[in-house]
Amino acid sequence: MKIRKAVFPAAGFGTRFLPATKAIPKEMLPLIDKPLIQYSVEEAKMSGLEDVIIVTGMGKTAIEDHFDVSFELEILLKEKNKADILRMVEEVSNLIHFSYTRQKKPLGLGHAIHCAKNLVGIEPFAVFLSDDVIDAKTPVMKQMLKAFEQYPSTILAVQRVPMKEVHHYGIIEAKKIGLRFHKVIDMVEKPLPKDAPSNLAIIGRYILMPEIFGILEETKPGKGGEIQLTDGLRLLSKRQPIYAYEFEGDRYDAGDKLGFLKANVCFALKNPNIKKEFGKFLKGLKF
Ligand code: UTP
Repeated sequence: MKIRKAVFPAAGFGTRFLPATKAIPKEMLPLIDKPLIQYSVEEAKMSGLEDVIIVTGMGKTAIEDHFDVSFELEILLKEKNKADILRMVEEVSNLIHFSYTRQKKPLGLGHAIHCAKNLVGIEPFAVFLSDDVIDAKTPVMKQMLKAFEQYPSTILAVQRVPMKEVHHYGIIEAKKIGLRFHKVIDMVEKPLPKDAPSNLAIIGRYILMPEIFGILEETKPGKGGEIQLTDGLRLLSKRQPIYAYEFEGDRYDAGDKLGFLKANVCFALKNPNIKKEFGKFLKGLKF
């Protein structure tokens, strides 16, 4: 069973980043010089996926424009003999095959994924939440696709988080079955630390079986009146096995101000063009 398609839910309002996200999609905020979503589209490509399906919504047309051909810009760059920049701009629109669908109202992550049902069809698929930026030697989705070869079933990317932060995440109750593998028993969305079954948090990379679509149709609105993916996955876990995979890599929640700043600093310190100057600047800062 080869996984070919990747769904990118990108229809949320990004309220944690207001007012920046009033007119600009959160997914278009730049890490150094690339928008967040481009990092995860590149991860999809490097992992061998073929089709990217982006679920957009109100005010998100910049995402489509970003991955489209920019005719005027390309002519201008040609006229100015800026061949390197032209190549880089062309590469963005040639990255992979894109399709778009719209979530008419932000009714939750589960609902957004369900909007991709007709474009996905009846096959397992990958999901990327592009505000989870993960710096990894082997792209995280590639690690997960390898895990899928071993456990051809729904797989959630998980990471241990400090207990005081569990209320930000979907948290799994699970039985360890291998170095990085867990069999999921149950899960809970944003629990208080005292109610959390573990500190294994679900991070924004998933491999989902197509049965999730039927289940999301049955899933009632949960926390915040939204159709929560975690609630759908709970139902799915009663019918088929779900596994969790502890990935290797450094993850930043770039949908949050502090996480976004940390990601920018860490990526800048790895960027050959700016790391030296930027490092000097950081060292000279007084706190
Ligand atoms: P978040 O929980 O980060 O919500 O969504 P958000 O609206 O993007 O941001 P905040 O929390 O208000 O600041 C996780 C992912 O699910 C998508 C978001 O675009 C993001 O990729 N999502 C969320 C949707 O596509 N539709 C929704 O209705 C909700």
